[in-house]
Amino acid sequence: MSEPVIVFENVGKSYPQYHQITGGLKNFLFHLPSALKSFKQLRYESLRDINFQMAKGESLGIVGRNGAGKSTTLGLIAGVLQPTVGRVLVRERVSPMLELGAGFCTDLSGRDNIMLNGILMGMTRMEVQKKVDEIIEFAELGEFINQPIRIYSSGMLARLGFSVVSSLEPEILLIDEILAVGDIDFTKKCQERMMRFKKQGVTIVLVSHVMQDIVNICDRVLWIENHTAKCIGPAEEVVQKYKDS
Ligand SMILES: Nc1ncnc2c1ncn2[C@@H]1O[C@H](COP(=O)(O)OP(=O)(O)O)[C@@H](O)[C@H]1O
Ligand SMILES: [Mg+2]
Repeated sequence: MSEPVIVFENVGKSYPQYHQITGGLKNFLFHLPSALKSFKQLRYESLRDINFQMAKGESLGIVGRNGAGKSTTLGLIAGVLQPTVGRVLVRERVSPMLELGAGFCTDLSGRDNIMLNGILMGMTRMEVQKKVDEIIEFAELGEFINQPIRIYSSGMLARLGFSVVSSLEPEILLIDEILAVGDIDFTKKCQERMMRFKKQGVTIVLVSHVMQDIVNICDRVLWIENHTAKCIGPAEEVVQKYKDS
């Protein structure tokens, strides 16, 4: 295997846990030092002990129940989250399509958001300009492209988001549950485009609850359960195990 483009080594992510003051405020204040200490020590583990590597051009699916830690994993690859423990290494440019509308400015029009995102991804104005028509055509938003995106539905945001990230020559493409919100026609276009990327050697990480998409697009699958890797292996095999569970 050539040098991996994504490496996760013993990766964990936790957040401070906020909880209610039991026993009343007076009691809490009376034992302030020890109470504060226990406050600080309590952490909520979103992800723990994740290890995997991805070669260039490989596609990895991530499956698991709601709250398992899938989006957290994508956030760590995108660099919008930092691991609390372990190491995350990413060697290529990441084009994330994380949550709907992330990286978009709600007061700007769809068209202006295309420009904004292109520039955020490190392209020049000229480079983005050349792609704008193609992106708008793919998104099929009609006149809405000139409206502020705060009035878009979630499906329309998904159209814009996917069109943008997938048109700006991604090296590593991260897709979080996007295929679920679009209508049938758009979902089909997304699937086709992802298949094309796969053939072109783009590295893809796809989070989806649609197992058929995972099997069609991904070589391997990481199944996250209770915030840690239950298993990782060939797509069909892992999806079957996940379904059986
Ligand atoms: N900023 C945060 N602060 C505290 N907990 C968080 C934060 N972000 C996510 N979590 C928790 O981490 C867990 C994993 O979340 P996530 O990765 O979004 O799950 P999934 O995408 O698999 O549904 C969830 O239980 C969620 O509540
Ligand atoms: Mg998620």
